[in-house]
Parts: sequence; C-alpha cells; structure tokens
Amino acid sequence: MFIVLLGPPGAGKGTQAQRIAAATQLLHISTGDMFREHVKGGTELGKQANEYMSKGDLVPDALTIQMLLERIGRADAAEGAMFDGFPRNVPQAEALDAALAGRAAKVDHALLISAPDDELLSRLGGRWICRNCGHLYHERNDPPKKAGICDLCTGELYQREDDRPGVVMARLEKQKPPVALIEHYRKADILSEIDGKQSLDAVTAVLLEAIK
Ligand code: AP5
Repeated sequence: MFIVLLGPPGAGKGTQAQRIAAATQLLHISTGDMFREHVKGGTELGKQANEYMSKGDLVPDALTIQMLLERIGRADAAEGAMFDGFPRNVPQAEALDAALAGRAAKVDHALLISAPDDELLSRLGGRWICRNCGHLYHERNDPPKKAGICDLCTGELYQREDDRPGVVMARLEKQKPPVALIEHYRKADILSEIDGKQSLDAVTAVLLEAIK
C-alpha cells in the first residue's frame, strides 16, 4: 500500500505518520527528515536544500524528486510506504505516479489533514523533537513526562531551526498544499479530507479508518 499524507506545516503529518507506522508497520518516508539528515551530515544536497529550507521555501523539484525516487528504489519500500511531506505539487505527484506505475503499483490513499493558521502557529512554536529517535512532542498538547527528555529513548529534545517565528510565517504562506495537487488526488478518487483540529487520538482513528 502506498499512502501520501498532505497538509500545511504543523497539520500533524509527521506525528500521525509515526502513529500509523507503529499501528500498521508501513514504512514512513519523510522528505523533510531526509533533507534534515543531509543538512546535519553536511552533504552537497544538504547544503543546497538548506538554502531553501532556511527561508521557508520548498526545495526545487529536481533535487527533491531525485532524492525520493532513490529512496523508494530501496528494497524496504518494495511493498509499500507512507509519504509524509511528499508530494508538494503536481509535478512531484506525477513523478511519484510514474515511478509506482513502473512497478505496477499506485498511490492508494491521499490523506489531507487541515487545521486553521492560528492552530498551526501554536503547534509549530511548541514542537519539540527527539534528537535520537525523532519522536515528536508538543510542550502543551503532547508533552514529554520530563521536559527536554524523550519518553521513549531518553534522547535530548530540540526545536527545529525552521520553527522560528519568521520562517514559520514564510512556510505557512508558501507551503500550503496547492489546489491543483488536491484535485489531482480527488480526480483519482482516493482523497480523504481530515479535520486536523481534533485531538491527536481522534485524528489517528480517522486516518486508520480511512486506510483500513
Ligand atoms: P517538513 O519536515 O516536511 O515540514 P512541513 O511540511 O512544514 O511539516 P512539519 O514537519 O512542520 O509539520 P507536520 O505536519 O509534520 O506536523 P507535526 O506532526 O510535526 O519539511 C521541512 C522542509 O523541507 C520544508 O520547509 C521544505 O523546505 C523541505 N521539503 C520537505 N519536503 C519537500 C518536498 N516534497 N518538496 C520540496 N521541499 C520539501 O506536528 C506539529 C506539532 O503539533 C507537534 O508538536 C505535534 O505534537 C503537534 N500536533 C500534531 N497534531 C496535533 C493535534 N491533532 N492536536 C494537538 N497537537 C498536535
């Protein structure tokens, strides 16, 4: 099964992808996490991507699609995957469709999570992430038992550079899913629209029902 998770920054794509992966064993592929790994590792791709990420822009399609296609060509993605943060536009969606068609597969579900801007701002401002295992927390909505420490692995929690107020505003302006992308999946009759303002558990339940 191949699933795409769509939504604006802070809608809950990463959090829900972690929960769905735990419930279904589906492989979770996050292009944002992949870019952050490249930035951390100081690779050439990381340097190029960071020029865009630090300003709240999307990384150009040529770089993003190449990275994604390389990732889904690996053996662990043969049976399926859940894409978090990909695609962001129609060219990326078409590249994914073509790659999957080449192996007699397709996107089975597109899950669009939405939430109002004030909620997105509050979520991004309060997000903390485990440096070790990547688990996501929110200082008010889903706090760790001990501030600054991951419940799962005792790793240190940190806040993303692009969650600073100036960059967050740019991301919210530039990175909402475009109508044409939503229509791409609506036309294919695989789009489910989810109210992301509900509680974490309620959103997880709706998503799991949608892909059952
Ligand atoms: P990426 O990492 O994908 O960032 P994003 O799309 O901006 O999404 P976020 O990770 O910020 O939010 P999310 O929806 O995952 O929310 P989360 O679950 O963490 O991309 C980073 C950058 O990489 C991009 O800016 C771009 O430059 C580049 N990039 C990546 N993919 C690209 C692509 N395909 N093309 C081009 N460039 C690309 O939740 C947020 C917080 O809210 C958490 O603290 C969580 O605990 C809390 N929360 C979540 N749900 C709820 C809820 N229901 N109730 C209460 N709190 C909640």
